[in-house]
Amino acid sequence: MKAFIENLPKAELHLHIEGSFEPALMFEIAKRNTIKIPYNSVEEIEEAYKFDCLQDFLNIYYQGASVLTTEQDFYDLTYNYLQKCANQNVRHTEIMFDPQTHTERGIAFETVIKGISKACDDAQEKLNVSSLLIMSYLRHLSEDDAFKTLNQSLPFKNKITAVGLDSSEKGNPPSKFKRVFEASVKEGYIPVAHAGEEGSADYVWEAIDILGIKRIDHGNNSLQDEKLVKEIIKRDMALTVCPLSNTALQVVDNLKDHPLKKMMDLGLKVTINSDDPAYFGGQVNKNYLEIQKSLDLTKKELYTLAKNSFKYSFLNESKKQQYLNELETYYNYKK
Ligand code: HPA
Ligand code: ZN
Repeated sequence: MKAFIENLPKAELHLHIEGSFEPALMFEIAKRNTIKIPYNSVEEIEEAYKFDCLQDFLNIYYQGASVLTTEQDFYDLTYNYLQKCANQNVRHTEIMFDPQTHTERGIAFETVIKGISKACDDAQEKLNVSSLLIMSYLRHLSEDDAFKTLNQSLPFKNKITAVGLDSSEKGNPPSKFKRVFEASVKEGYIPVAHAGEEGSADYVWEAIDILGIKRIDHGNNSLQDEKLVKEIIKRDMALTVCPLSNTALQVVDNLKDHPLKKMMDLGLKVTINSDDPAYFGGQVNKNYLEIQKSLDLTKKELYTLAKNSFKYSFLNESKKQQYLNELETYYNYKK
């Protein structure tokens, strides 16, 4: 099963680039920028990466991201993640980045986007991994702030495919960002949002009805509402589920109690993703492997999950078909 998962062609649809920041690279970048970080060793970092809830994690995640300063830093961060994709047979990835985490500290939007997108271009050429970018608004900040970010992004519109909504969910409902999502869609960005991770099913309703999102990030709490589940199925929307993130942030107590299989059995379209792999104990293949073991998933179910990852990506139809054919060939040979 391990080899089947490792070689399975797949896409990752829920990944925060700042959450892929590994301790070793963090030390290296902090050192070259002569920035002090509050850890002396990788062991101290691992000790600090124990979380009670989303906010607990976010505090440490923003602190980690604060050493990223130059275009080269953003390039190195992104290329490091894309190399991991290549090693795991992640054929395509849709990368979220949080501009406000950096612009708030005085880093130019241009620095962030140029570093990240250059790494994506190089990875396509050298690693044969395709990618696209999702610009995420921080929901703990104001809608005006998100508008500022939208405006800063416009000169780089051709490098960005979608907009997302992340950070502290409770108390920051999707409706707070109604106008900026409308404006983002007018600019041609595809809308997605985190919803139902810690927030209730009502937040998922708002995300689909008010923001008009095309894909739901997490969405676990949709299961609280039967009518909502039916609606998500009717609209053929996928959920980007992140098993190891869910246990790390105590959204789910134990992987054995994870609702992923239940979601699939209900008819929801589910994908498997790593969210913030440097913080939650594993890249995407580890997420596949751990959830497979915990829920006793079959090869057919793993194939369905990988198929969803391409089908519900934002690639054009011909590229999607190309990857789906690759997956089909693999599955027919290995099942
Ligand atoms: N939820 C909300 N915001 C985030 C996350 C998450 O899992 N990861 C990074 N920002
Ligand atoms: Zn996330």
